[in-house]
Amino acid sequence: MRPHHVHEVLFTREMIQQRVDELIGEIAGTCKAENLVMLGILRGSFIFLADLVRGCAKHNLHPRIDFITLSSYGGGTESGGTVKITHDTDQDLLGADVVSVDDILDSGRTLAFAKELFLKRGARSVRTCVLLDKQTRRAVNIKADYAGFSVGDSFVVGYGLDYDNRYRELPHIAGVTFLDE
Ligand code: IMP
Ligand code: MG
Repeated sequence: MRPHHVHEVLFTREMIQQRVDELIGEIAGTCKAENLVMLGILRGSFIFLADLVRGCAKHNLHPRIDFITLSSYGGGTESGGTVKITHDTDQDLLGADVVSVDDILDSGRTLAFAKELFLKRGARSVRTCVLLDKQTRRAVNIKADYAGFSVGDSFVVGYGLDYDNRYRELPHIAGVTFLDE
């Protein structure tokens, strides 16, 4: 782990909660409800997905919920070139309308991989939902169908997002400064 400080709050718990409520409304308004599967990409999405799911009932959405663990990172802050399945989902995706949920869209490799995988398994549609979008960092051509907030190039942690598997427990999202930069 590099020497670092976790510093200013970029998004408070309240800002996040309000935006998550709006996102589930957007999802409910545009997704077919009958065969909806919400697939969280672990580990970064676990808190975000839990909050999204809590908003489902009031929109009369009853999705199947599952997770898939994908990794492209190791312990660093730069994404590697290839994405691997570490733990797979066992859900039957044939004919399903999938919403693939991740914490942050960075290079886009993780979500592009997930989308292709779910389509290959017979999903009728795959939409992507991320809390944060680092738009300037895209290496592959993918756009989030639902995105909470845009962020710049800085590294962020909290609300499920980690640095070296730490800080996921923070209720807000904060920036990280690396002291060796
Ligand atoms: P991508 O495949 O490059 O789009 O990377 C997506 C994954 O990288 C996310 O699921 C995160 O786990 C991780 N990631 C990218 N940027 C950040 C960040 O600023 N903080 C924490 N994790 C990040
Ligand atoms: Mg991560």
